[in-house]
Amino acid sequence: MITIISATNRLGSITYKVAMLYSEVLSKMDVKHQIFDLSHLPNDFIFSNFDDTSTDDFVKHFDKYIIKADRFIVISPEYHGSYPGIFKAFIDCIGNEGIKEKKVALVGVSSGRAGNLRGLDHLSALFHHLRAEVYSSKSKLSLIHKLFNEQDVLDDSDTLKLIQNQINGFLTF
Ligand SMILES: Cc1cc2nc3c(=O)[nH]c(=O)nc-3n(C[C@H](O)[C@H](O)[C@H](O)COP(=O)(O)O)c2cc1C
Repeated sequence: MITIISATNRLGSITYKVAMLYSEVLSKMDVKHQIFDLSHLPNDFIFSNFDDTSTDDFVKHFDKYIIKADRFIVISPEYHGSYPGIFKAFIDCIGNEGIKEKKVALVGVSSGRAGNLRGLDHLSALFHHLRAEVYSSKSKLSLIHKLFNEQDVLDDSDTLKLIQNQINGFLTF
C-alpha cells in the first residue's frame, strides 16, 4: 500500500490537486494506494499528541496512513523556501515509527521557479534521519499555477511524462 501524503493543511491547495493526479496514475496502473490529506488532522494534534499524549482520532490517522503503508509519495508545496511546518509537526508527533526502512518518493510544488528544490533537500535529510530510503528521482513542479487549466486538469505533456517516469522508477526501487 502506497500512501500519497499531501503535505499541507491549506484548504484548496494545488498540492492536493497534484496528489489527486498521482492517485489517478496509480489507479490506471492498478497500484493500491490512498491519499493522506494533512488538512484532515485534528486541529490541535501537535499539542494533544506530543511527548507521550495521544488522541483516538490522531491514532486512527497514524494507523491508516502510516503504519499500514509500505511506501510513501510525499507531495510538498514550497512554503518560505522549505516544506510546510505542519508536516514537521506531524513527524515530531510520530518519530520514525512506521516510517523507518520504508521507501519514499518526493515531489515539490511551487508557484515560483524552484519547484521546492530546497524543501526536497530538507525532506531528504529528514527522511534519512528517520532511516527511511529516499528515491533519488524527485519531481520539481515549478510555476504550478500555469500547469493546471481552467478545468483543473494538468495538461502539460512534459510534466505528465516526468510524473509517469518517476512513478515507474519508484515502483521498482
Ligand atoms: C505560507 C506560504 C509560503 C509560500 N512560500 C513560497 C516560497 O517560498 N516560494 C514559492 O515559490 N512559493 C511559495 N508559496 C506559494 C506556493 O508555492 C503556492 O501556493 C503553490 O500553489 C503551492 O502551494 P499550495 O499547495 O498551498 O497551493 C507560498 C505559499 C504559502 C501559503
